[in-house]
Amino acid sequence: MSKVGTSIETASSILKNNGLVAIPTETVYGLAGNGLNPISVLKIFSAKKRPSFDPLIIHSSKDKIFNWVSYVPDKAQLLADKFWPGPLTLVLPKADIIPYETTSGLDTVGVRVPRHSLTLELLSQLDFPLAAPSANPFSYISPTTAQHVIDQLGNEVDYVLDGGSCNVGIESTIVGFEKGQPVIYRLGGLSIEEIESVIGKVELQINYSSNPKAPGMAKVHYAPQKPLVLVDDFSEAVDDAHTAYVLFNEQLEIDSNRQFFLSKSDNYFEAAAQLYALLRYLDISEFSKIVVKRLPDISLGTAINDRLLRAATKS
Ligand code: TXA
Ligand code: MG
Repeated sequence: MSKVGTSIETASSILKNNGLVAIPTETVYGLAGNGLNPISVLKIFSAKKRPSFDPLIIHSSKDKIFNWVSYVPDKAQLLADKFWPGPLTLVLPKADIIPYETTSGLDTVGVRVPRHSLTLELLSQLDFPLAAPSANPFSYISPTTAQHVIDQLGNEVDYVLDGGSCNVGIESTIVGFEKGQPVIYRLGGLSIEEIESVIGKVELQINYSSNPKAPGMAKVHYAPQKPLVLVDDFSEAVDDAHTAYVLFNEQLEIDSNRQFFLSKSDNYFEAAAQLYALLRYLDISEFSKIVVKRLPDISLGTAINDRLLRAATKS
């Protein structure tokens, strides 16, 4: 059997037997297993070398997703109606059936309905949710193609469901509720502006410490192996012939072979969709350093800056 393909039947039969399948979503590829089965869940943690205290989110179809939680606040329902399927994860009190291993012992669970036709078809055939973190080794750049998954976790997965390139390209935005009020824990593919247009002002609790409350928001994350330097202005960077520049759209007066554009047409959605593939490409290129300029903090620029800050080399 080939490891990569588009067979929902193969994916579904592996998952029913507690194996691991990489699944395409609109954000990034997920490393999926049966979210109700501790054995599958422990395989996910081990494949990614993910610390056991970092909870997984679960994926299901829109008609089943709230079977896995015990309470849905009104504002969560509004967001679900508006943005699912889509790049939004809601953290809600978990249903009893969700095992300890999936949520790392928390009494809440992250739930999401991804917007990808192959994965939605797969989810419609399963009577259990899929626990799925991003399909990358812990702390490396998330995968946005089937090949990215094979490159790093090819030996760990039983099958990769190939759904092409992820069209959003950065992870879902995570929204939880504290004392009934919505809180954004992770910026992502759904902008703050879009969320606030539906439920009003939302508090941001984005964690940059190395021992955060929401464990997976660790400061070093999404990082290439090569040094990545994040600047407000390119004049801050020390230039040499081995440096690659990642630009949103502006052109620099240096060798064009060293300039890489996120979106020449000034489009934040295109920039997000390009980001991880470009960082992976530069990480295996001949360049020894990557310099990136912060994007304006609007639309998905805010979430892209969040990822770059975590990926950046600390000095
Ligand atoms: O777009 C996405 O969300 C992708 C695709 C595959 O759906 N998944 C993803 O999963 O990014 P992961 O595990 O790489 O990131 C999920 C984040 C982690 O930082 C984890 O700590 C946090 O969600 N998380 C999960 N459950 C949580 C909970 N109950 N409370 C707070 N944070 C939680
Ligand atoms: Mg991840």
